[in-house]
Amino acid sequence: MRAQVGIVGAGPAGLTLALLLERAGIDCVVLESRTREYVEKRVRAGLLEQNTVDLLHELGVGERLAREGLEHRGIFLRHRGHTQHIDMAELTGRHITIYGQQEVVKDLIAARLDLGAPLHFEVSEVAIHDLEGERPRITYTHAGSEHELACDAIAGCDGFHGVCRPSIPLGLLTEHESVYDFGWLGILAEAAPTTDELIYGWHENGFALYSMRSPRISRLYLQVPADEDIERWPDERIWEELQTRLAAEGWSVGEGPIFEKGIAPLRSFVAEPMQHGRLFLAGDAAHIVPPTGAKGLNLAVNDVRLLAAALVDWFRTGSSAGLDGYSTAALRRVWRAQDFSNYMTQLLHDLGGGEFQQGLQLARLEYLERSEAAARSLAENYVGLPAAGDF
Ligand code: FAD
Ligand code: PHB
Repeated sequence: MRAQVGIVGAGPAGLTLALLLERAGIDCVVLESRTREYVEKRVRAGLLEQNTVDLLHELGVGERLAREGLEHRGIFLRHRGHTQHIDMAELTGRHITIYGQQEVVKDLIAARLDLGAPLHFEVSEVAIHDLEGERPRITYTHAGSEHELACDAIAGCDGFHGVCRPSIPLGLLTEHESVYDFGWLGILAEAAPTTDELIYGWHENGFALYSMRSPRISRLYLQVPADEDIERWPDERIWEELQTRLAAEGWSVGEGPIFEKGIAPLRSFVAEPMQHGRLFLAGDAAHIVPPTGAKGLNLAVNDVRLLAAALVDWFRTGSSAGLDGYSTAALRRVWRAQDFSNYMTQLLHDLGGGEFQQGLQLARLEYLERSEAAARSLAENYVGLPAAGDF
C-alpha cells in the first residue's frame, strides 16, 4: 500500500491534518488504535480558540459547531467570593467557543468518511521505519492481517503515549518536562450551568473551575493530589467542595446527576525538535500543557495548520523550506502556550507554598483588576494570538 502521507492517530491533530491535506489533493491514510466509538466518546477539552473555530469553518466542518457551540465573551476569575470579569471580546476583539473535543472529533470523522478517504480504527502493532530515507514505512495489523504502508512523509499525531516520538533515536530529541504534584478531578453533570461564562476559582483548599458543555450539561474540575484515589470522592463530597471553592454571595453551583468522573494528571512537556527525517510530530505527541490555559487542543490544531501548509508546498514545488522550518515555527507557539499555561496554573492552584505563595497569588489577581494592561495580556493569550504565517 502507498500514500503520500501516513498519519498515526485520529485525535484532533491527525483528523484535522488529514482534512487539510485531502483538500489540497494530497492522499493520506489515518491509522487509529482505538475504536471509533471510543474516540468519539473520550471526554477531554472543551474550549476552542477563535483560530481553531475559523479553521474548522474553513474546512467545512463548522456547521454543528456554529449551531451548538457556545460563544463566550470572556471568563470570570473568582477569589474569596469576589468576582472579576475579563471581557476578552472587548480587550482583544476575539471570542472563545465552548464545544466538546469529542464533538470536534465526531465532526472530523464524519467529514473524512464522507470523502470515502481511508481511516482505519482498531489497528495494532503500529511501527514506523526508515525515517531517514525517502520512503518511510508504517507497519501495522488490522482486522487480523499485517499491512505495510509506504509513504513520502509520516505525521506522528498519536498523542503523548504514542509510538512515534519514542521511535526517534535516543539522543536526537531533547525532552523538557515538569510534572505537578496535583491533578484535576473532572466531572460532567446533568445540571444547567448557573453561570453564563467559565469561572476560574482561587481558594485556600485549591483550584476549582466551572465550565459547561451545553445549556443543560455542566463540566466542573477540582484540584486534587496527583495520586488521589477517585473512590475518596463520592458525588456529595464533590458538590460540597465545588460549592466551597466557587462560593459567592447569593449564588451557588447548579447540581445534578454526575455521569462522568475522572482524575487527570497535570504535566508540562516539550520535545524538540518536532521532526526527525521524514517524521513530523504534531499535538500531544510533541507537547503537553497543563489544562489551566485551555491550550492543548488548540495547539494541536495549530501544529497541523503549519504542517499541512509545509507539506502542500513540498508536494507542489519540491521545496522543503517549509518542512525544514516546521519544528521551529510550531515550537514558537508551543512555548508561548507553555508560558501562559504555567502562568495560569501558578496563579490559581495551591502550590504548597503556604501564606507567602497565597499573598503573591492574591496580589496578581488584584493587579489583573487594577491594570487593563495585565488583563489584556491574559486575554490575548487566552483567546489565542492570531494565526499569522508561521505563528
Ligand atoms: P490525542 O487526542 O491524544 O490523539 C491521539 C490519538 O492517537 C488517539 O486517538 C490515540 O488513541 C491514538 N493513538 C495512540 N497511540 C497510537 C498508536 N500506537 N497507533 C495508532 N493510534 C494511536 N486540553 C484542554 O485544553 N482542556 C482540557 O480540559 C483537557 N483535558 C484533558 C484530559 C485528558 C485525560 C487528556 C489526556 C488530555 C486533556 N487535554 C485537555 C488535552 C487535549 O485533550 C489534547 O491536547 C488533545 O487531545 C491533543 O490532540 P492530539 O490529536 O494531539 O492527541
Ligand atoms: C473544559 O471545558 O473542559 C475546560 C475549559 C477551560 C479549561 C480547561 C477545560 O481551562
